[in-house]
This record gives sequence, C-alpha cells and structure tokens, in this order.
Amino acid sequence: MKTIIANWKMYVGAREGVELARATLSALGNREGLPEVVLCPPFVAIADVSGVIANSPVALGAQDVFWETKGAFTGEISVSMLKEFHVSHALVGHSERRALGETDAMVNKKIHALLAGGMVPVLCVGETASERDAGKAKETVIRQLQEGLNGVSFQKEHRLFVAYEPVWAIGTGRRAEVTDVVEMHKTIRKTVSDLLSSSVSVLYGGSVDEKSASAFLREQEIDGVLVGSASVRADAFAGILDATFHSLS
Ligand code: PGA
Repeated sequence: MKTIIANWKMYVGAREGVELARATLSALGNREGLPEVVLCPPFVAIADVSGVIANSPVALGAQDVFWETKGAFTGEISVSMLKEFHVSHALVGHSERRALGETDAMVNKKIHALLAGGMVPVLCVGETASERDAGKAKETVIRQLQEGLNGVSFQKEHRLFVAYEPVWAIGTGRRAEVTDVVEMHKTIRKTVSDLLSSSVSVLYGGSVDEKSASAFLREQEIDGVLVGSASVRADAFAGILDATFHSLS
C-alpha cells in the first residue's frame, strides 16, 4: 500500500485546515484500495481536523513532538497530549526544524518517546546541496539514520517511516531524479535493516505535486510521498491521491 503524508507546515490554520480535511475525504470518496493518507496540520488545527476525519480511514499526524512526558517545558507538546486527539504519526527531524537547531540527538529522543507511546515516527532525512555536490549524500543520510535510531529496540508492534527529503528539493520546485531516489531508498532500507533488524517504509519528499507524483509512486522502491506545499492546494492534493490510485491499478 502506498502512503501519502501531507505536511501542511505553517500554511493553514484551523479554519482552512477543516476545509482541506473535508476536501481530502471527498477526494478519497469510497474507492477501493485506498492509500494510507496522513494529514499533518499545525498543532492549533489538530483538534478540529481530528473531528473532521474521525471514523474515516484518514490518519492524523503532528509536525513535531517533544520527548518529555510532562512538566515545565513552555511551548512543547508531548506524545500523550497528541494521543488525546487520536494523532497516530509525527514528523521528526524535518529539515526545516533541523535548520532551527534540531540535532540528531534531539531527533533520537523524539523517536524513543514516540515508539514508547505507541505512535509512528516519520523520520525525515536528507542531504543539503553542498553535501550532495561534495559526494556526501549517502554518508549524511546514513549518519542521520544511525544517530536518529541509536538505541532503538524495534518491537513487532512498532512502525516507522523514513522520509528521504533532499534539502535542496524542499519547497524549491527542484525534484530529485527518480533513479537517484530509488538508489538512496535502497541505502536507507539496508541501513535501517542493519540497525533495527526490521524492514521499513521509505517515502520521498521534495516538491512533489500532482504532475510529478506518479513518476515516484509507480516505483516499487518508493512506498509513498511526503507532500508539503502541494498538500495545501485541495485540487493538487486530490491529483496526487488520484495518481496513487493509478499507480496501484
Ligand atoms: P514541499 O515540502 O513539497 O513543499 O517541497 C516537502 C516537505 O517539506 O515535507
């Protein structure tokens, strides 16, 4: 099954989020063989979006989480607070958070907290343009996986996504070549399997839109896509969902 994760970033608040969630439900309709769809609204929209998608196959994700369970941590949100609103997934280590100071060590604490709380981490990894130009793309991604997953003891009930998002492809309209993505996904699978003795779903993210989605989704090696700016345009997101159905048929 392919997975489509929508990262709404700081693009929409609660009012528009409710409309987008409704549009997603109507785009999915009651077709056979639905993809797994996860919507990641900003925190302030989570309660309202949770209400809209209740009793639907669409899942709810957070864009971030804090690793502590409770306490004096102004501005932070814990796993159990998210679970009150039926949030099942959380992005971790998105490059826009790494750019604001999130380290691999912080990513690692978040992954531990999510798995301990029964949530699904979506670990975002990817190289910058200069790392790619220096021939260090794989090295960077392997380091992010090793440090992000350090000490994780992966149990049968755990689930984890890795999203390969080259930093230079995010929000730029400059997508990675499908062949390069496939190659990196193989590296990610091998690294995670060595680290966790488990298989993992690997998504691609970076300027995916309704026109480019099918080129990624028809690859067996690509389990789905993580979509940013196109996910807040209802027609574009509906087009990406359509591409998923076509890639399955
Ligand atoms: P983009 O963002 O689709 O706008 O490039 C992807 C992401 O940041 O997850």
